[in-house]
Amino acid sequence: MKSMREMSILVTGGGSGIGTDCARRFCQEGARVTISGRRLEKLEAVQAELGEHCHIIQGDVTEQGDRERMVAAAVAHGGGKLDALVNNAANMYRQPVDGYTEAFLQEAFNTNVISAMMLSSMVVPHLEMTQGAIVFIGSTHTRRAFPGASPYATTKAALEGLTKVMAAELGPKQIRTGCILPGAVSTELNLRAGIFSAEEAPDRYDAVAGLHALGRIGTGTEVAEGVEYLICAEWVTGVALEVDGGIGLGASNF
Ligand SMILES: NC(=O)c1ccc[n+]([C@@H]2O[C@H](COP(=O)([O-])OP(=O)(O)OC[C@H]3O[C@@H](n4cnc5c(N)ncnc54)[C@H](OP(=O)(O)O)[C@@H]3O)[C@@H](O)[C@H]2O)c1
Repeated sequence: MKSMREMSILVTGGGSGIGTDCARRFCQEGARVTISGRRLEKLEAVQAELGEHCHIIQGDVTEQGDRERMVAAAVAHGGGKLDALVNNAANMYRQPVDGYTEAFLQEAFNTNVISAMMLSSMVVPHLEMTQGAIVFIGSTHTRRAFPGASPYATTKAALEGLTKVMAAELGPKQIRTGCILPGAVSTELNLRAGIFSAEEAPDRYDAVAGLHALGRIGTGTEVAEGVEYLICAEWVTGVALEVDGGIGLGASNF
């Protein structure tokens, strides 16, 4: 098992939620972490907390020029190297099947899938030098069906497929891949998508807590622990790791 000490890690969408919790944990473990996102004030707040181990780069993962700047910034902050890419940036996309619009679906796949594919492509030469890892953030939405959430669920299913093919293709270069499937974690994700309001959030998370075998929603730190494992475990590649409190089991009392 590798240590994170002195690793150089790029976490997209690190200005909030699970991405921030990954950055916090990796910095505590001694890594040099670069976080990206569109909202500068969110990134600056994280950097103010985490200090010089954390570097920020503003940008949109759907823009190729921004992606290039993100990778270059992470390599520079890491002293000329990159050990891991965490494809965390994403949005929640819900639309009923009989109300699909092409533009919405294209935005969902562009943001949640194609951006991660392009970033992963760009970091291959760097990760080959460090025998590094690419981690995708999937979702329990590929284990439990939530009506209305098919655009989001299919983007996350795509990431699981990518994880396996990339593992096979990049294995000879000693680059590993992995996909974390979190259960419910209270973050901005659903609020930003207008699924429910901040006032409604406690009740909504209480309602979903009971679907988890462990009876509660998770924390971003618990998800970050799984991401750390996939980055550091040297004989693990191509896996989908459920860090989900058991919601993916689909258990019910009958
Ligand atoms: N929370 C959960 O229950 C849960 C469960 C399963 C999986 N996940 C996954 O966990 C990951 C993190 O989500 P989260 O829950 O922590 O939500 P979050 O707080 O909303 O984080 C998502 C981040 O992605 C960034 N982002 C979105 N679109 C972007 C774009 N086009 N360019 C650059 N950055 C972009 C956002 O920052 P800006 O808006 O500033 O760009 C935001 O910081 C996502 O992949 C999500 O699908 C979450």
